[in-house]
Amino acid sequence: MSKRVVCILAGRDGGNTQRAAEVFTGAALKAGAVVKTFALRKLHYSGCLGCMACKNGRSETCVIQDDLTEALREIAAGDITIFASPVYIGDVCGQLKLLFDRMYSFFSPAYKDYQPDFVSYRPGIKIDQRASRLNPGKQIVFISLHGLDQKNAFADIFDRYEPFWNWLGFSRAHLLRSGSVKGVGGFTESHPMVEELKILARQLCG
Ligand SMILES: Cc1cc2nc3c(=O)[nH]c(=O)nc-3n(C[C@H](O)[C@H](O)[C@H](O)COP(=O)(O)O)c2cc1C
Repeated sequence: MSKRVVCILAGRDGGNTQRAAEVFTGAALKAGAVVKTFALRKLHYSGCLGCMACKNGRSETCVIQDDLTEALREIAAGDITIFASPVYIGDVCGQLKLLFDRMYSFFSPAYKDYQPDFVSYRPGIKIDQRASRLNPGKQIVFISLHGLDQKNAFADIFDRYEPFWNWLGFSRAHLLRSGSVKGVGGFTESHPMVEELKILARQLCG
């Protein structure tokens, strides 16, 4: 069966992050996947309001009805979710953080009984699937581009979010990141990440 890929794209129109995400989605389509892209800059939505309707029995999904409603539904139904974001002030772009907060609705009401140890957390640690409403086996591809020339800067972003994704019910998260990506057109066909993106897309979607 074809893999369902959901691409959550943060940042500007026609930017480097979009180009990188398109390399992955292009290769995924070639490998037979079905791809749906949500460009967050075009959507109108709020962050989590902390109403707890998704935890106190009122609703199985986020009760806020806005442009993220469909994106959350697609992530829950999909096999692979791409989060593609430029680094803004040392973190994911704020557009994406609001969506992360709304993913709180993926936690089951019992999620706190299955919390990971955030201090000793290592990738691959198995978290009880009862923490989540999602079906097991979903994977994340995190594409993170930054402008500064310091190659190892901002590596902490993935490390901070990865335990949450795991706890939310995703089995695995793959990181593709690069610095020194400057100006529109800074991410070209010859960027080393292009081959990595194509290989991963074929691996996950083939
Ligand atoms: C509001 C804003 C904040 C930014 N913050 C950072 C930052 O903290 N570190 C960095 O290396 N680059 C930063 N950048 C640059 C982007 O990460 C850079 O342009 C990156 O290559 C993404 O490219 P894109 O915007 O063309 O997708 C910032 C850019 C903007 C507009």
